[in-house]
Amino acid sequence: MFERTLILIKPDGVERGLVGQITARFENVGLKIIAMKMVRIDKEFSKKHYAAHINKSFYSGLEAFIISGPVVAMVLEGIDAIDLVRKMVGATEPKTAAPGTIRGDFAHHSYGFADKKGIAIKNLVHASGSKEDAKTEIALWFSKEELHNYAMTHEKHTL
Ligand code: PPS
Repeated sequence: MFERTLILIKPDGVERGLVGQITARFENVGLKIIAMKMVRIDKEFSKKHYAAHINKSFYSGLEAFIISGPVVAMVLEGIDAIDLVRKMVGATEPKTAAPGTIRGDFAHHSYGFADKKGIAIKNLVHASGSKEDAKTEIALWFSKEELHNYAMTHEKHTL
């Protein structure tokens, strides 16, 4: 029931100064940040992270985007965290992401615009899509030593 999931605040989120507001949403629902760092990845690392998408038509734009600036990577822990975070992040395309979601509230890019321009869709965040993805992605982005084990105040009160 308790799950861990990988979140990336992508270069558009960092450059727009949204790191605090995006992170606060996860903290507000009670998810625990157990790892966090700012990283500038290279093409090789992008191919590992987006291995499932390498042969898709949009991959070159996606790679150019994800290496274009630093990203903030974090691991969140909580009850059914993978589905919960995907719900909070919203649909991949900001244009169709529901209001109230991170992509729906802070972005409005569309597939049509991105594909016409040959660029990646600017959707602020990546969130693991499944338990298997979360396990692989967390191991790719963080060492075991970077995953912290601590009790939050509300956990201490239930002891
Ligand atoms: S998802 O969110 O992973 O379930 O969505 P999916 O469509 O399977 O993943 C596609 C990832 O590629 C990014 N991307 C694009 N997808 C489609 N079309 C275009 N033009 C495009 N540009 C980038 C999309 O944001 C997904 O990556 P993440 O990092 O998960 O958002």
